[in-house]
Amino acid sequence: MNSSSPSISASSKTPIKSDILDLSKIPEHIAIIMDGNGRWAKKRFLNRVKGHEKGAETVKMVVRVCREIGIGHLTLFAFSTENWQRPKNEITALMSLLKKFLLTEQKSLMENEIRLRAIGQLEKLPEDVLATLNRTMHLTRNNHGLQINLALSYGGRSEIVDMVRQIAEKVQSGMILPEAINREIVSQHLYTSDIPDPDLLIRTSGEMRISNFLLWQIAYSEICVTDTLWPDFSEDEFLAIIKNFQCRERRFGKV
Ligand code: FPP
Repeated sequence: MNSSSPSISASSKTPIKSDILDLSKIPEHIAIIMDGNGRWAKKRFLNRVKGHEKGAETVKMVVRVCREIGIGHLTLFAFSTENWQRPKNEITALMSLLKKFLLTEQKSLMENEIRLRAIGQLEKLPEDVLATLNRTMHLTRNNHGLQINLALSYGGRSEIVDMVRQIAEKVQSGMILPEAINREIVSQHLYTSDIPDPDLLIRTSGEMRISNFLLWQIAYSEICVTDTLWPDFSEDEFLAIIKNFQCRERRFGKV
């Protein structure tokens, strides 16, 4: 990551006007599967890590836009449980990129009232990364603007397994009756217990897959898959996707 690159707080080239978006119909929660960093680098004969570095710049743009238009939650799939199987050098590079991002953006997270949280099996992260993450979460805990939820060492199936285990323990100890288990109780035992379900799920790089992301939470999310590789994802395309979301009729299974 280039330290001179614009941070989250840098103002937009073109101000986001209410004639582009209906500001009364802004999604409360956008979740993104940021895919295609490796292909972006390969196309340029670059190391995959360069793709992740460019991808981190796109993260800053997306955060800035979300803050400017008043999105409540932005959940980013930054590292999956399956990503631990990548080559060691790529994992190390991703972890140090994450740590650098947290350190360099702390100031602008505070200036912009952004709260940072994380979901996933965080105990698997390297100690120094976890310490930086915990410090950033603590530092930003009272910010009430945009909330960024970083999905790190995250897998939807592991989340469901953890939820089942917690509920089973409560049933065993008599805290919950089996017949009392309902959708609310399940939701309350997920990593996202106090986060609303995503209204809009975006996936870049054209793959028509969910890849073990927020399996329970996306039951009624609107989905948008774009062929654009994550490092090339632009502010204009992001706004166009939100505009398209605003034109959709959400029926939640009803007529
Ligand atoms: C998927 O692309 C992307 C990842 C596994 C990592 C996402 C990380 C970033 C966007 C940068 C760092 C994040 C933060 C929050 C600072 P891929 O490598 O699977 O691409 P490919 O499918 O083309 O190989």
